Amino acid sequence: MNADASSRSAPGEKGQDEAAIGFAYFADGLATQHSCAFLRDRRFIDAYRAGIATLGRDGESMHIEWRVHVALWAAQQAAAREGDFVECGVNTGILSRAIVQYLDFARMAPRRFYLVDTFRGIPIEQYTAPERERGIDRAIDGAYKETLQQVTESFAGFPNVLIVPGIVPHVLPLVVPERVAYLSIDMNAALPEIAAARHFWPRLVSGGVMLLDDYGWQGHDVQKRAFDDFAAERNVAILQLPTGQGLVVKP
Ligand SMILES: C[S@@+](CC[C@H](N)C(=O)[O-])C[C@H]1O[C@@H](n2cnc3c(N)ncnc32)[C@H](O)[C@@H]1O
Repeated sequence: MNADASSRSAPGEKGQDEAAIGFAYFADGLATQHSCAFLRDRRFIDAYRAGIATLGRDGESMHIEWRVHVALWAAQQAAAREGDFVECGVNTGILSRAIVQYLDFARMAPRRFYLVDTFRGIPIEQYTAPERERGIDRAIDGAYKETLQQVTESFAGFPNVLIVPGIVPHVLPLVVPERVAYLSIDMNAALPEIAAARHFWPRLVSGGVMLLDDYGWQGHDVQKRAFDDFAAERNVAILQLPTGQGLVVKP
């Protein structure tokens, strides 16, 4: 998840005219005058707040509403299919915490939500030479802290959320749900992301959703190319969203 462009003004912030709210969004690398009526939806607001709250005070200036809106849509689609939920790249769990709130995930047991992360940042040795050339490793230097305790507390009310600490791909043999309906990949590095996609794709059910947080972001073209090849090999297309995310619904 990219935070560099996520703290600009969002609807309802910084003195925007109340009447204009719902028809303007300027945050997180996205500017549009299209309807964003979802911002007024009570269920969205509660879920978004629960997600952002995982950041504590760091979340006060963050505006990733549209990305969360997309993730909630994807999760809702997945909820209508059979299978577990997985996120690889959790950090404090903004997206996943918003989803479990939105779907009341505890009630979806025995379905499970696997949260996979080192919970101590990106293993920078996994960056490929082209990614290093783009300076991604320097950009994230010091950006991630130890978050395991925080995540354990944030998801305490959801016994069917399983926290899986470890490095992708090494930890993947421990995460073998029979069916997956929702797969979120957000590790900001091509190697572990493609490894996760290869591991979970055969388990992803028809109609299941794969959400790529970094797909269209500037500086992440190595990930984009790797996923374009991944998709072409499987004869599927990735929808590039103006939020920077990529979205695939498995045929
Ligand atoms: C951008 S953050 C994820 C943000 C998260 N999706 C959210 O909603 O808040 C990227 C995360 O990927 C994790 N990560 C990166 N490479 C990893 C790897 N190879 N194995 C496990 N976790 C990894 C980092 O520890 C970091 O927490």
